[in-house]
Amino acid sequence: MHKRLHLGKHDKKKKNDVDMKIAVIGLGFVGLSLTAVLSSKGYKTIGIDVDKTKCRNISQGISTFFEPELEKMLNDGLKNGLRISDDFSLIKDCDYIFVTVGTPQRPNGAIDLSMIKNAVTSVAKIIRSNKNNPIILIKSTVIPGTMKDVILPILEKISHKKAGKDFGLISNPEFLQESSAIRDTKFPHAVVLGGYKTKYMIKAKKFFEKLHKKTPIIVTNHQTAEMIKYANNSFLATKISFINQLSNICQRIPGANIDDVAKTIGLDPRIGKLFLRAGPGYGGSCLPKDMKALIKFSKSTGIKPILLDAVEETNSRQLKQIITLLEKKLGNISSKQITILGTAFKPETDDIRDSVAIELIKKLLKKKARIIVHDPKAIENTKKVFGKKISYESSIGDSLEKSQCAIIMTEWKSFRKINNNLLKKMKRKLLIDCRRMLWDRKFDVDYNALGMGKEI
Ligand SMILES: NC(=O)c1ccc[n+]([C@@H]2O[C@H](COP(=O)([O-])OP(=O)(O)OC[C@H]3O[C@@H](n4cnc5c(N)ncnc54)[C@H](O)[C@@H]3O)[C@@H](O)[C@H]2O)c1
Repeated sequence: MHKRLHLGKHDKKKKNDVDMKIAVIGLGFVGLSLTAVLSSKGYKTIGIDVDKTKCRNISQGISTFFEPELEKMLNDGLKNGLRISDDFSLIKDCDYIFVTVGTPQRPNGAIDLSMIKNAVTSVAKIIRSNKNNPIILIKSTVIPGTMKDVILPILEKISHKKAGKDFGLISNPEFLQESSAIRDTKFPHAVVLGGYKTKYMIKAKKFFEKLHKKTPIIVTNHQTAEMIKYANNSFLATKISFINQLSNICQRIPGANIDDVAKTIGLDPRIGKLFLRAGPGYGGSCLPKDMKALIKFSKSTGIKPILLDAVEETNSRQLKQIITLLEKKLGNISSKQITILGTAFKPETDDIRDSVAIELIKKLLKKKARIIVHDPKAIENTKKVFGKKISYESSIGDSLEKSQCAIIMTEWKSFRKINNNLLKKMKRKLLIDCRRMLWDRKFDVDYNALGMGKEI
C-alpha cells in the first residue's frame, strides 16, 4: 500500500503533490539516491536504467554500490510502491522526469554526451504521445550550452513538441557528495533551477520549496545553471590543490604541521573549513573529470585557464611526490612488496573511479612492485581493475605481512587501529601516511606523513 505524505486537513495542493508521478532516468549515485529519497517520502516514483542487472538488484532492495543509509531508504521506497525498470514506456504520464545519467570524460578530456543524448532521445519518444505536460529536469553535469544546443533540439525534434509550451525543461545540477549522498539529497545546500521563466519554472520552484523547506532556490538561465556546477567543483578542486601545495611546503619545514595550518585558516569565515584536508590529491568520479571538461571548454571560448591548469598540475604532482619518497626510502622498488591501505577515493564509499590510489598502483606496477591491497569496502571494485595482477587482503594485519612499505591512501577510520603489533609483521617498517591518521602515535617504524615537517 502507498504510504502518503502527511496531509493537512484541507490541503488540496499537497494532495495534488502526492499524486504526482515522478521518473528518474539513470540509477547511479545521483539517480538512485534521488529515487530512494522521493519514494521513501511517498511520491509515486519510477526509476529507469538501461542496465537490466542493476534494475533487478535495485528492485530487490539491493544497491549496486555502497552508500550509507541508501539501502534502508530504498527499501522504504519499495514498500511505498517504487517501481524500477528498464522500460521507458513506464514514464508516460509522469509529471516530473529527472535525468541523472553519467557524463564521463572522453580520452581527450572533453565531456562524453552519448549517454545523455540516448536518455533524452528515449524520453522524447515517450512524451511524444503524452497527454500531460511533463517537466524534464537535467541533473547530469553538462558543459554550458549543452541544454540549448544539444538536449533541447533532440527533445523538440523527436517529441514534435515545444519546450516551454508543451513541456518544461530545466537545468537542475546536483551537488551531492558520495558517502553523504542521502543526507545531501534530503538537505541540499542550494537548489539551482535554470531555464526560461515559464509556468513550468513556477511549478518546479513550488515543488522544490515543498520538498526542501528553507533551502535557497536559485532561478537562473540554462547556461548559468550549467556553469554554477563547474564553478562549484573547480573551486573545491582549487581548495584541495591549494592546501596540498602548502602541505608540501610544510613538509620541508622541520616541525611544521599542515593540519594546524588548515584548521586555523578554516576558522576564517571567508575561507571555511571544508575541503582543506591535505592528502595525495583529489580523485573520484566528479572533480577530475569536471576540471578537465571545464579546462577544455574554457580553451574553446578563447580563455586560457591558467589557474585551473595549475590546480590540475598540482594535483598530479602529489602522486609523483609519494613515489619519489618511496624510492628515496626503498631504492629500486622492483619486486618489493608494498601495501596500499585504501583504494576508495574517499572513506564510506566503494567508488574507485579516478581514485588516486588506483593511479598509484598502476604506476607502481609499471615499476614492477608487488602490491597488496586492503580496503574495507572497495576490494571488489579494485579486483575489477587489477584482477590477479595484485593481491587482496580483508584484514589490515594480513595485508602488512612481509611488506616493505605501507601507504595509507584513504582516510578509513579502521586504519587508526594500526599498532606496533600489526606493524611487527612488516619486513621493513616503513609507513607513508598520506592522511596523517597516525601522526600522534608512537611507532617503532620509519613514519612519514605528508604535510608534516620531520623534526631534526
Ligand atoms: N557521483 C557524484 O558524486 C555526483 C555528484 C554530483 C553530480 N554528478 C553528476 O551526475 C551525473 C550522474 O552521476 P553518477 O555518479 O550518478 O553516475 P553513474 O555512472 O553512477 O550512474 C549513471 C547511470 O545511468 C545509467 N544510464 C546510462 N545511460 C542511460 C540511458 N540512456 N538511460 C537510462 N539510464 C542510463 C547507467 O546504467 C548508470 O546506472 C553525472 O553527470 C555526474 O557528473 C555526480
